[in-house]
Amino acid sequence: MGDYSEEDVGNIISLEHVNVQIPDQSLATLFYVVGMGCTRDPYLNVGLNNMWANIGEQQFHLPTRPAQVIDGFIGLVVPHLDGLAKRLEAVADGLKGTQFGFEQQGDCLVVTCPWGNRYRCHPGQEQFGDMASGMPYVEFNVPRGAMAGILRFYQTAFSAPTAVESDSGGEFGRVKIGRHQSLLFRETERALRPYDGHHIAIYVANFSAPYGYLKQRGAISEEVRNHQFRFKDIVDPADGSGKFLLEHEVRSLRHPMYNRFFVNRDVSQSQRSYRRGWDAYTPYLR
Ligand SMILES: [Fe+2]
Repeated sequence: MGDYSEEDVGNIISLEHVNVQIPDQSLATLFYVVGMGCTRDPYLNVGLNNMWANIGEQQFHLPTRPAQVIDGFIGLVVPHLDGLAKRLEAVADGLKGTQFGFEQQGDCLVVTCPWGNRYRCHPGQEQFGDMASGMPYVEFNVPRGAMAGILRFYQTAFSAPTAVESDSGGEFGRVKIGRHQSLLFRETERALRPYDGHHIAIYVANFSAPYGYLKQRGAISEEVRNHQFRFKDIVDPADGSGKFLLEHEVRSLRHPMYNRFFVNRDVSQSQRSYRRGWDAYTPYLR
């Protein structure tokens, strides 16, 4: 008989958004909305300074500033993978002269955004639970020797369950978030892209413990305001050595936007073959 530990979740209960600056909102619309099939948040940041782009219960935050790029991959679950390839083909002309590209790799489509961020677009599958559309993980390349200390940091500061796993690309560390999201950390020999200030937002059930841990170590980079704080230094609790830089926006469940409903459209809807009632993407109703 098992111990049912697979039913447990750690203190980080969701990864909600990835924030990467983009220099051009029209190209970003072409890529994220038309190509990738995200839905622009219709309520917030609807001007030219920023765009929030929904995918399932997660978002991209795309402020208009010089481009930021994550050294790694953003994992996405996409409902219609063949539709995605067709849409990307259709925007290729408009994105000519940028870093945009995509290729099939096994069962996933690897896509590069106009500024170099890379996405692995997967069909829904068991490892992502019942996620039919969304962002199950972000994978970061980290320096050789950094992974164990990074996992210790999330265990100690955030009471997050972690695991060391391997796939065809070798060994990587997993920090488990909620039911089926993760941060992944994969060591590499090559020189890493210098950290440029991109950030992720996470929600935690217990807010005061990670806050207290980081505060005590002088690691809070933005004090608590509106139920959230920020930090960016990932430090090995074993010896105090800095392992990685990544700004985290850490929100409590009392943040007003916790579990906010994100509008998602059905990207297979079209003017030419319009189906009444199918504008919204409602995977759990079909
Ligand atoms: Fe943010």
